[in-house]
Amino acid sequence: MSGRNNSKVRRLFVRTFGCQMNRYDTERLVEILGEEQFEPVVDYRQADLIFINTCTVRDKAEQKALSYLGRLKGLKRRRPELVVAMGGCVAQQHGEDLLRRVEHLDLVVGTHGIGRVPAMLACYETTGERQAFVDLTYDFGDVSDGRSRPWKPGVSSYVTIMRGCDNFCAYCIVPLVRGGERSRPSHEIIREVGSLVECGVREVIFLGQNVNSYGQGVPDELDFAGLLRRLAQVEGLVRIRFTTSHPKDLSPSLMGCFADLESLCPHIHLPVQSGSDRILQRMKRGYTRDHYLRLTTELRKTREDVAVSSDMIVGFPGESEEDFRQSLSLLEEVRFESLFSFKYSDRPQTAASRLDGKVEEEVKLQRLRELQRLQERITLEKNETRVGQTTRVLVEGPSQAGGTQLSGRTPQNQVVNFQGPAQLVGEEIPVLITVAHPHSLEGVVCMENNERFKAVKERSWCGK
Ligand code: 5AD
Ligand code: SF4
Repeated sequence: MSGRNNSKVRRLFVRTFGCQMNRYDTERLVEILGEEQFEPVVDYRQADLIFINTCTVRDKAEQKALSYLGRLKGLKRRRPELVVAMGGCVAQQHGEDLLRRVEHLDLVVGTHGIGRVPAMLACYETTGERQAFVDLTYDFGDVSDGRSRPWKPGVSSYVTIMRGCDNFCAYCIVPLVRGGERSRPSHEIIREVGSLVECGVREVIFLGQNVNSYGQGVPDELDFAGLLRRLAQVEGLVRIRFTTSHPKDLSPSLMGCFADLESLCPHIHLPVQSGSDRILQRMKRGYTRDHYLRLTTELRKTREDVAVSSDMIVGFPGESEEDFRQSLSLLEEVRFESLFSFKYSDRPQTAASRLDGKVEEEVKLQRLRELQRLQERITLEKNETRVGQTTRVLVEGPSQAGGTQLSGRTPQNQVVNFQGPAQLVGEEIPVLITVAHPHSLEGVVCMENNERFKAVKERSWCGK
């Protein structure tokens, strides 16, 4: 749909729950609605359109999104012209039923429907009929034209390369909601990355439920390693990251990319989920503890400085104390740089929801706390080994801590805060690490001998 150039500017507020896929979809939505004269606002009470982007991986995430929607009821009553829309996995899962259940909801936009929002909005505004779109066959309709003019081009940008999942891990609702695996054509991805780099983006993060099975089953398509090798040739692209990967698809050719491609960051998110073979089998993960350990050893041999992060679930149905101890011992053995850990949550229609041996909430909570305590110690110890080292940091912007600090990331994905001039944003610079915190590092820029840095420093210096 073309932009309505004569219409007045309208205000858009987006609340995003859940994963990076949703953040990417939000970026797309802002971009697409930007062409329809919508401007993002930070106060939802000022908005003409409120869009809630949702996640359903765990029950808690779904309940949070629904309760947020519930809280908009009064606002919609006072301002009936306000359009309330729900997108993402909760919208996909419940579809039209949400319109029946929630009177003040106007648009239900399934996981593949972002590109349809302008048309849905126009239809709603002309007919007054509330709209739902949950068609999963509209594969990459929202992204496929390869245009990429981010609203505010940042230093780093997400790019979806595949959607859906064929794995059906016993606990996971994703294949049921987002459907089977589909890869986006590589020529579109390459075009999108090229256009992002032209807009000043220095780092891209490739997204998919299982990126390392990219291209599988598509005739004449590149595989994931082939795609990475092709994208590493894009001039001006300083860093490449990707997430998330399944251990069973971590191929020798992908390991080879870590050895050969300088712009591929030495970091992999490789969810393990459990350290117990019995539980991994019940989860239908398709690998053993030993196989996982061999993969991480091999990765570290291939690229010594590689950081490994992971996901772990505690309290999966049937998880005994001994199984849980195996998860703890796996943490000690692998020593992940960071870990996301979750209490098992029953999701409708998954295989695990039908398993016996459900673990009590209190036990799950205790196990989660113990696991997190152990990981906090390991992460801090790992961060402390960085002190005294000089590392390359891609400067992303002002630090969240505020003040005059800047913030960036190491190739291993650790956050580093330091004093420096704002002109360094977008530069990859050497930083000497001076302090380690549990979730970040502090450092000082060490570019005293660098001519460009000296010139920038003379112009504006907001640090010491
Ligand atoms: N319960 C708890 N955690 C889950 N995850 C996925 N499904 C569930 C569930 N039902 C976690 C997994 C996955 C991450 C994105 O969310 O660890 O890797
Ligand atoms: Fe869910 Fe498993 Fe697919 Fe990940 S690989 S999205 S956990 S089914």
